[in-house]
Amino acid sequence: MYRTNTCGELNETNIGQTVTLAGWVQTVRDKGFVLWIDLRDRYGITQLVFDEQRTDKTLLEQARKLGREFVIQAVGQVIERASKNPNIPTGNIEILVKKLQILNASLTPPFTIEDETDGGEELRMKYRYLDIRRNPVKDKLVFRSKVAHLVRNYLSQEGFIEIETPVLIKSTPEGARDFVVPSRMNQGQFYALPQSPQTFKQLLMIAGMDKYFQIVKCFRDEDLRADRQPEFTQIDCEMSFVEQEDVLNTFEGMAKHLFKELRGLDFDKFPRITYAEAMRRYGNDKPDIRFGMEFVELNDELKNGSFKVFDEAELVVGINAEGCASYTRKQIDELTDWVKRPQIGSGGLVYVRYNQDGTIKSSVDKFYSEDQLKKVLEKTQAKAGDLILILSGKADKVRSQLSALRMELAERLNLRNPDVFAPLWVVDFPLLEWSEEENRYVAMHHPFTSPKPEDISLMETEPGKVRANAYDMVLNGNEVGGGSVRIFDRDLQAKMFDLLGFSSEDAEAQFGFLMNAFKYGAPPHAGIALGFDRLTAILGGQEVIRDFIAFPKNNSGRDVMIDAPSSIHQQQLDELGIGLKE
Ligand code: AMO
Repeated sequence: MYRTNTCGELNETNIGQTVTLAGWVQTVRDKGFVLWIDLRDRYGITQLVFDEQRTDKTLLEQARKLGREFVIQAVGQVIERASKNPNIPTGNIEILVKKLQILNASLTPPFTIEDETDGGEELRMKYRYLDIRRNPVKDKLVFRSKVAHLVRNYLSQEGFIEIETPVLIKSTPEGARDFVVPSRMNQGQFYALPQSPQTFKQLLMIAGMDKYFQIVKCFRDEDLRADRQPEFTQIDCEMSFVEQEDVLNTFEGMAKHLFKELRGLDFDKFPRITYAEAMRRYGNDKPDIRFGMEFVELNDELKNGSFKVFDEAELVVGINAEGCASYTRKQIDELTDWVKRPQIGSGGLVYVRYNQDGTIKSSVDKFYSEDQLKKVLEKTQAKAGDLILILSGKADKVRSQLSALRMELAERLNLRNPDVFAPLWVVDFPLLEWSEEENRYVAMHHPFTSPKPEDISLMETEPGKVRANAYDMVLNGNEVGGGSVRIFDRDLQAKMFDLLGFSSEDAEAQFGFLMNAFKYGAPPHAGIALGFDRLTAILGGQEVIRDFIAFPKNNSGRDVMIDAPSSIHQQQLDELGIGLKE
């Protein structure tokens, strides 16, 4: 037996017992006459002690040879500690070691295995197995496992069954880019890794499996961000004989269960807003509603022939940065530069400062009277001490620019408290969005999303105005999940493919299997997929999902530990029939 106990469980009730522990040497403190070792395993740290009076000489010598991260086994007696450490559960005891065995030596690790490490990101990723020994990383993986467990239990109790779907599937042109896998037995042909199990879960509904779920890996060859990985995990779900309302209620229930179990928080019904309203009030389809700073449209107040820039703009819109009238000229200039950066792309920033003493100062004083500016203050419900920031331009663009500014200000003003949670549903997404790049409509969610029945007639006349039965779960400014009611009628699905510019041959070649299945009694169905990494990270108080993934990819999509992707041998290429030709 390697151990009788873990390094996290012994306390004063065990005093007097002889125990065997195994783990890694975290630190060795040698005072000459006494030597302490912090022994670590997944469960915690227990102090081992050796001293000149009570430990035999060869054992003490043996202990002196131990280095950081050696793997050892120690047998000894639990004794009360002289100087106690109230910060750890085992802090009242230590083990007076009687026998020691080195199970494995270790090189000195390239960074310190401590909560606050001296290792940079790149180094930690290269030695991720050492990084995971650190509490902050280990705790996140334990947390992730707990979330998965709660999800499985909750959905199982709700009658969902977990079904695995294949990973080697067929490439589809919609959505993000596919990762493809060549086939040795079918040379010149490729599988694709699933961007999601979307079509399979729909087929499972046609197969009569009703409530399906899967915690499943998905793969998308897209540009990476803090909340995106090329391979990530979804909590993927589908239900039959349901409407949007049923799906929202089920998954709101699941989210509430997670908040309660993991954070001890209770929530009322999640607010719901339409996509159109989200865009109007926050310029964003995943609004962070932990704070206000809602958009106030100022066309009536400011488009009146006084200031050319505003007169020419489709939309003049502002936010109230409460309490920011004290911003210096320098700070405002800096914000102006910030919105003018190419990533944001605004032409400029107008401010109206409502000073504490009641005076008003703005960057457009020469164009507007004080009365006109007062109207702006009224409309934005400004109080003395507030700062109004205004952008103008084409409606869509200016909304997204102001949304970026709103989030940036919230960051600077510490309004994005990770321990505050503000979930909501955004509903009634448009069915289609225009792609400038492809010069055609593309599905905003995916091509299987059903239009709202009352909007079907618009599909031919004004496709851009058709709303979908599609919904997102949004948490603290992040899209944590998205889903829709599906098309289950073959003709409507064909019409949708047509709108997306598929010829009937293309539609048949790409999605014939689904269209065919629709001929055999497809039930009404709807579903959702939650981003498991994102949800876990946010519940864990962070937005960077990488830390919640055991072996994540870096910003260039590389695994620097195993050095992937990598080139393969010519022989492999030849076997696959994709030899690199001159
Ligand atoms: P969607 O594409 O919205 O829907 O994805 C669902 C959720 O998955 C998460 N997500 C990601 N997380 C990390 N890295 C990524 N690259 C990434 N991409 C997406 C998001 C998102 O809300 N089949 C549909 C769902 C359905 O209709 O049922 C789908 O995949 O949190």
